[in-house]
Amino acid sequence: MATAQMSISAEDLSQIPHGSEKIPEAGIMVIFGASGDLTRRKLLPALFHLEKAGLLPEKFAIVGVARRALGDEFAEDMRGGIIEFDGLPAGDPKLDNFISRIRYFPLRFDALEDYAVLKTELERIAEEKGIGGRRLYYLATAPEHFAPIIENLGAQGMAQPERGTAAVVIEKPFGHDLDSARALNCQVNAVFREDQVFRIDHYLGKETVQNILVFRFANGIFEPIWNRNYIDHVQITVAETLGVEGRGPFYEKAGALRDVVQNHVMELVSLVALEPPSSFEAESVRREKLKVWRAIPSIPILDVVRGQYGAGQIDGQDVVSYREEPRVSPQSGAETYAAARVEIENWRWAGVPFYLRAGKRMQKRATEISIQFKQPPLLIFDRLASRAVCQVIKPNLLTIRIQPDEGIALRFGAKVPTTMEMDVCPVNMDFDYAEAFGKSSANGYERLLLDAMLGDQTLFSHRDGVETTWALLTPVLEAWANKKPEVFPNYAAGSWGPECADHLIARGGYAWRNDLGRKV
Ligand code: BG6
Repeated sequence: MATAQMSISAEDLSQIPHGSEKIPEAGIMVIFGASGDLTRRKLLPALFHLEKAGLLPEKFAIVGVARRALGDEFAEDMRGGIIEFDGLPAGDPKLDNFISRIRYFPLRFDALEDYAVLKTELERIAEEKGIGGRRLYYLATAPEHFAPIIENLGAQGMAQPERGTAAVVIEKPFGHDLDSARALNCQVNAVFREDQVFRIDHYLGKETVQNILVFRFANGIFEPIWNRNYIDHVQITVAETLGVEGRGPFYEKAGALRDVVQNHVMELVSLVALEPPSSFEAESVRREKLKVWRAIPSIPILDVVRGQYGAGQIDGQDVVSYREEPRVSPQSGAETYAAARVEIENWRWAGVPFYLRAGKRMQKRATEISIQFKQPPLLIFDRLASRAVCQVIKPNLLTIRIQPDEGIALRFGAKVPTTMEMDVCPVNMDFDYAEAFGKSSANGYERLLLDAMLGDQTLFSHRDGVETTWALLTPVLEAWANKKPEVFPNYAAGSWGPECADHLIARGGYAWRNDLGRKV
């Protein structure tokens, strides 16, 4: 397939206003569960990116909190994480300054008395650095600690401080089904007002995910055809080559539907399908997303399938089956793959199926949305195409590559110039983020951490949204819990998932698009 590339001119790039980002007020970020992987791999590297971009306030401290008795080695370990995950030279002077902002405080999450000591310690740090009373609590712990931490923060008056302000960032998973999400929301809102709560879904921090709205609503030409009259069906794929990466105990309880579909995939569905919000403000966007999720009727159990990977090969290397992963039951029924067909029953989307899938240990790492348009009403070249160079006229396809190879491609048919016949061949117009704007090392958390510090909730999940997506998926989870899968493992690591998923989409007359990634 031929490809025409697109890029931004140096002149256009120079017109883009840089440095117009707001800088948050002075404050302290307190990370609960700071000795875990997330802090080292994602949060601290992201905060350091903000430091390098000059977006952290001068008066700003990071306090890592966890159960382990650690001291200065915590900050040094974070330095190691930033160097490892950012590939930075160890002697970067900005890094030294950044590391000097980090403190550690040992605390038992369920011990109220420890919070009194933490409160005093935060006041002491604030006093010493002239920081003031602004606090951002980041809950990066296992989910069972969310409620006790929130309750104890409330009980010590740390959620509604007399002087200053406080907010809380809560990592996913937010609940494990509808009831638990509702209960957690009640516990959270008993202590923090909703405008103080930032439920994080790191997909919303990805540039390419934010770009879905820009693509749709900053361009005049796509919106008129963005509906059932022109769109045939939509596929959303979140394929990973990674396995469970030592997270066996978490994954045993979660599975792909809870881990990725309820949040990341559902967010992508809403961004593709929502009506134009009146502005890019938290409330307008939230309302439109909610309407999408509410318009999805309950999902028939025949329209969802699950899979679990067996042994196989990833990039030529042998990998073990899920059941052989550390701390995973040899009889595990946890799904490492889930696929579903959903519909959105509103005027725009009635009759357009959305096929969703997410899986670990798939053949290729790719998160993509593909929007297939309907064929023209009359294929006048079709008969000729049968003897053509390119045998079939393929429908227009718009592909949004969320990661990797971030970009957007539009496939259309073009006349093959070297023949005298009307031979039609699919070609691609391709926009590549890295080529146009340069490679970004952002991991999605920079944007979200900055917005949480600024108090902007646009890219965070709201209480209603979380409950609505759980309401949609809980019946599926219950049905699965009541009927153990008979044939796990049912796909080999390094394949494109289980056969039942191919049957699911074939019932609609389609096939999964497995030629994911950039075509060059
Ligand atoms: C996380 C899931 O939310 O998203 C992980 O818990 C998954 O299991 C990850 O691997 C995928 O995120 P990304 O940014 O690597 O696509």
